[in-house]
Amino acid sequence: MARLIIHRARGPVPVKDRRGVTVAAICMCGLSKKYPFCDGSHLKTRDEEEGKLYIYDEEGNRVGEVGEEELKKLLGAERLRSV
Ligand code: FES
Repeated sequence: MARLIIHRARGPVPVKDRRGVTVAAICMCGLSKKYPFCDGSHLKTRDEEEGKLYIYDEEGNRVGEVGEEELKKLLGAERLRSV
């Protein structure tokens, strides 16, 4: 069994204390090995291009990408607008 979850974020959301000091960073890219906390793995997304879907394995290695035409087939043209 497998599932496809699309993450668009390329960096974490900071968690701040009452003084405004960052005390944690929550992973929003989905690649962290310390999820839900950021471990810097989001740096792997730096060269990702708009309009493409990148595929990573469970170890966080990029194993493929899907172009716009394949995305349209997978998700349909309407859903592609939100990717
Ligand atoms: S935001 Fe995911 S590892 Fe940093």
